[in-house]
Amino acid sequence: MQIDDHLPTPQQEPPASQALFLDPTQRNRPLPRSTILVSATPRNGIGCRGKVPWQTRSLGQFHHRVITGPETSDRSDLNTVMMSNGEWKRSTASDWGDVRSVVVSRDQAARNISDTSTVVNSITSALDRIPWTPAKIFVVGGAWLFEEALTRDLVDRIIITRILDPTYDDCDAFLPDFHSIRELDPALWRRASHAELCGHVGFQVEPGIVEEDGVRYEHEMWIKV
Ligand SMILES: NC(=O)c1ccc[n+]([C@@H]2O[C@H](COP(=O)([O-])OP(=O)(O)OC[C@H]3O[C@@H](n4cnc5c(N)ncnc54)[C@H](OP(=O)(O)O)[C@@H]3O)[C@@H](O)[C@H]2O)c1
Repeated sequence: MQIDDHLPTPQQEPPASQALFLDPTQRNRPLPRSTILVSATPRNGIGCRGKVPWQTRSLGQFHHRVITGPETSDRSDLNTVMMSNGEWKRSTASDWGDVRSVVVSRDQAARNISDTSTVVNSITSALDRIPWTPAKIFVVGGAWLFEEALTRDLVDRIIITRILDPTYDDCDAFLPDFHSIRELDPALWRRASHAELCGHVGFQVEPGIVEEDGVRYEHEMWIKV
């Protein structure tokens, strides 16, 4: 078991209820903002019966590359990937590559799940410990973690692979509609250009609609304005 080895030693872990309601304005520094990295249908479906129903060769590679960053990036300044206990169990370390991984779980037993990741009991607790560096922070799901990050205003960018066809109408897990969450003005999120997406991830992303393994999809990036 290895808890918090990759992050600076925190002060005592607050109980979950307290951690979830910490006021960022009362901190010494604002909480860093994160990027949601997700694939979703036009109705924001992200999963079905505990699985992601679309599996294409390059989608996993795309997520891996976005998370790890360009080959040229400074490896002493690792990106962070935050995920639910469920997502951690579904994945393997190689899915994430050379990054800090943080599992968010209220379950004390989850502290035994891994030798290589940090386990925290809330997303604010995770963000509060991440060193203040230019490295990126990604939230990769699932549904509850996306909702926590969005409703707590902890996200300023969303990289979403829109699964256009099939429509996967039997999805039972959803990304919240970030355009209307908290009844915010829909203009709050701006769709970035393809050039902005490539510039941000640091590699050439395939433009337009991609068709692969019977799935049509398109990569989008949204920025909070
Ligand atoms: N398309 C995509 O990009 C993508 C990405 C990730 C996942 N998915 C899919 O999304 C679906 C759901 O994934 P997931 O199981 O990782 O879901 P999730 O909704 O993020 O995580 C579930 C966990 O969140 C915690 N939780 C749930 N409700 C809570 C609450 N009210 N308060 C505090 N903690 C709460 C619980 O964990 P603890 O008991 O450990 O606290 C629960 O086990 C699956 O079908 C998955 O394949 C899709």
